[in-house]
Amino acid sequence: MGLFGANLERDRLVEIRSSARCVLPHCALPDDRASLASIRFTSLSNSDIPLAASVPIKPNSGQPVGTQSDKEIPAIRELLSQSRGQGTYEEYALVYEVLASRAPCSLLIFGVGRDSPLWIDANAGGRTVFLESISKWAAFARTATPGIDVRDISYGPWRRFMWPLLRRAPKLLELRNLPADVRDTAWDVVLVDAPRGTTWRRPGRMRSVRTAAVHAAPNADVFVHDCHRTVERESADQFLGEHNLVAQAGTMRHYRRR
Ligand SMILES: C[S@@+](CC[C@H](N)C(=O)[O-])C[C@H]1O[C@@H](n2cnc3c(N)ncnc32)[C@H](O)[C@@H]1O
Repeated sequence: MGLFGANLERDRLVEIRSSARCVLPHCALPDDRASLASIRFTSLSNSDIPLAASVPIKPNSGQPVGTQSDKEIPAIRELLSQSRGQGTYEEYALVYEVLASRAPCSLLIFGVGRDSPLWIDANAGGRTVFLESISKWAAFARTATPGIDVRDISYGPWRRFMWPLLRRAPKLLELRNLPADVRDTAWDVVLVDAPRGTTWRRPGRMRSVRTAAVHAAPNADVFVHDCHRTVERESADQFLGEHNLVAQAGTMRHYRRR
């Protein structure tokens, strides 16, 4: 039985054997390149079917647990009314409520967007760092939100090349090119919402999720967005622990390490 019951079993991964060998793009990290050279890859069908759940769900029970607070969060309503953020109210609220309860804390976010000021404000007095791979969006964030701490990073090879490592060599998925102060911090809260990961011919989020798991504090709250997609869902369960999944709103999953 899958995590949310039989109705989600159809989402499970289907592997299709492929004879393609990996040709690493120039952006591959040196340590990846050496280790990947001899690996034979499989490609996967993209069974990205949206989840039916729109409220947090208690794992293994299928029972809604409700939002942590029924109070409206005006900052989220404002974001959605002004700028069409890429999440829903419920998804943002799931993160916001936990973050607000832990602030001030150390907060690491994979990906900037129109929601960035929301997280900085929710973590007032804490330390909030964003990791961004697309220079246009890094520039947007620095212009729109003066003082924002955005670090430029690279996710390396396409999703299709990195995906097989989930099972075969998961340690290689960790991003090792992060700034030292990011690596040296045990992050209280982590939000994984990048790279975009929308096609197999672009970087995927298995690297962000692996890196989040490595650098999260022992009692961290880790959120992974877009878990209707195979890559996000499978890598989050593997690296953050299926047993640590405490809530889900829409496609936003909340894992709590305890
Ligand atoms: C899923 S988006 C992050 C969206 C952001 N968390 C939000 O809710 O607005 C992932 C990546 O897409 C890019 N991006 C950010 N905002 C975007 C937008 N409004 N439209 C398209 N791409 C965006 C950035 O490179 C970002 O790291």
